[in-house]
Amino acid sequence: MGNVTVVSHPLIQHKLSILRDKSTSSKDFRELVKEIAMLLCYEATRDLPLKDVEVETPMCKATFKKISGKKLAFVPILRAGIGMVDGMLALLPSARVGHIGMYRDPATHKPVEYYCKLPADVNERDVIVLDPMLATGGSAIDAISQIKKRNPHSIKFIGIIGAPEGLEALQSAHPDIDIYLAALDEKLNENAYIIPGLGDAGDRIFGTK
Ligand code: PRP
Ligand code: URA
Repeated sequence: MGNVTVVSHPLIQHKLSILRDKSTSSKDFRELVKEIAMLLCYEATRDLPLKDVEVETPMCKATFKKISGKKLAFVPILRAGIGMVDGMLALLPSARVGHIGMYRDPATHKPVEYYCKLPADVNERDVIVLDPMLATGGSAIDAISQIKKRNPHSIKFIGIIGAPEGLEALQSAHPDIDIYLAALDEKLNENAYIIPGLGDAGDRIFGTK
């Protein structure tokens, strides 16, 4: 079974409390999503392999470490996952970026896929799927099923807020993936929104409501 890590660093908790606040502007919301994604990326990449490199400091030559040519791909689930990409790329600028478009049918709450473009060599890459909200888990489950058809080396999921129902569903559908969240909230409401949550992440990022 993959690991579930709820990253409760004080910086993340502080930023997440501002993110949740309904009076936070779209501009600040986007900046916070980016910063939280960066902090989650730091945690989710703890296992990146390193190689020895020789460096000449102003004092002498010595052997140090660099990341050993790991091939990564970030795959945001549209729309809201887009808000996390810049934070991830700030730390790992050479990663490739794929996109999967999904929206939840308002009546059934089931995801409907409308777009999928992954890097051509995704089968040689370690993929990190990005979506701020893991509610029923349907969007993440379907996105990961799509990506698995292309046989990547590995898949991780980074979200900001998860609901217990979505986490359980994702773990049972894809028991092999590691999951990173900034918070695990209480429950879903009757419309499958996370409580207390932060409302509709896509609308808050793009100001569409
Ligand atoms: C939101 C969110 C996730 C999904 C989570 O997207 O960004 O993709 O819901 O819900 P689930 O776990 O129940 O599938 P939404 O469908 O609102 O689309 P949007 O990002 O385009 O607004
Ligand atoms: N999608 C969101 O954007 N927010 C929720 O609470 C649930 C699904």
